Amino acid sequence: MQRVLVTGGAGFIGSNFVRYLLRHEPEVQIINLDLLTYAGSLENLRDLPDEHRHIFIRGDICDSDLVYHLLIQYEIDTVVHFAAESHVDRSILGPAQFIHTNIIGTFTLLEAARRAWIEDKIVPLEQCRFHHVSTDEVFGSLEPHDPPFRETNPYAPNSPYAASKASSDHLVRAYAHTYGLPVTITNCSNNYGPYQFPEKLIPLMILNALQGKPLPVYGDGQQIRDWLYVEDHCEAIHRVLRQGKQGETYNIGGNNQPTNLHIVHTICDLLDELRPDSPHRPHRNLIRFVADRPGHDRRYAMDIRKIQRELGWQPRETLESGLRKTVLWYLNHLDWVSAILKRPDFQAWLENNYASRGVEP
Ligand code: NAD
Ligand code: DAU
Repeated sequence: MQRVLVTGGAGFIGSNFVRYLLRHEPEVQIINLDLLTYAGSLENLRDLPDEHRHIFIRGDICDSDLVYHLLIQYEIDTVVHFAAESHVDRSILGPAQFIHTNIIGTFTLLEAARRAWIEDKIVPLEQCRFHHVSTDEVFGSLEPHDPPFRETNPYAPNSPYAASKASSDHLVRAYAHTYGLPVTITNCSNNYGPYQFPEKLIPLMILNALQGKPLPVYGDGQQIRDWLYVEDHCEAIHRVLRQGKQGETYNIGGNNQPTNLHIVHTICDLLDELRPDSPHRPHRNLIRFVADRPGHDRRYAMDIRKIQRELGWQPRETLESGLRKTVLWYLNHLDWVSAILKRPDFQAWLENNYASRGVEP
């Protein structure tokens, strides 16, 4: 791993991963390809460690000429593919962009890698790796007493987002099987931590609570996710790149499965403690139960025994320590927050998703 193309490296997990890799791989050069959609921002890439080893390129993973020429020009040996449309609610209100970016985009990258590595042989194939970052949502929803998802579970995606990610996983697998492209896939549960765009549950709740706005909990709030601190996810991907077996899939998860309501309560209690002078205390009074997400998956849980056993990875943060770090990060980065809150596209999204649920955006 010497020259790494990271796609989507200006988004939440991608920017955390760029930081992680610069810190942990002193020789690696990173080419960061990101379109800077509403979800990506150069603000996420400020003050990188060892910045000279990071080159940012604004561009589209669906642009086949661009992607192929980047592989050739920089003699890329490793692709770590994060770029995607990632928000389930947006996929329900507008699925087309998800099909385009997540399926065509992944296909375009795979084709470019096949040409550059297998046809043009720009780098010896045994030094190459295409790593695809995917989600637990491809497995569908669990009943209360079902065992956690294993790598061998059948795919049963329920939202347009999950279906587009499942489709991209299948393409990656097919390129390995048919062409011998050296791939790995990770399927990860819900991430949280620094730089997460505030359309997602945890940062939305922190920022709404700080402003004294309603905290919109979908349905009865008893849905379950398997939360993982983002730096733990970055470490797991790094481990797979270094030690993972070609052609393998690894599940990644946080080993904890609270309800959404438990998460929101914990955030409220942390803010009560950390902002004792807030006029909005107790923050739990801001909670509002609102119309549910259509087709809402009830429960996810990941069986992470394979990556623990084979690669020795496991999460370092507990939910309590990770949530505290996250709330503190948002409290200490109000400049970053206010830049996003002011963006008209974000305000339009809040209006679009929440006004019809009877919550003031
Ligand atoms: P994000 O929405 O925060 O960031 C996505 C990034 O991709 C943005 O910077 C955006 O500008 C970029 N992008 C979008 N379309 C692009 C295109 N056509 N060309 C180039 N760049 C483009 O997403 P995230 O939460 O950081 O998720 C990253 C990846 O991890 C996604 O593939 C997602 O499916 C997966 N994942 C996310 C989670 C999670 O909890 N957030 C969990 C498991 C897996
Ligand atoms: O499971 C992994 C997935 O986690 C990733 O693949 C996705 O990219 C990522 O966005 C995330 O999907 P979720 O739909 O689980 O995340 P979100 O933060 O949108 O919602 C988490 C839970 O909180 C979910 O059950 C819906 C609920 N929710 C969400 C929002 C935004 C609310 O109750 N109210 C809200 O306002």
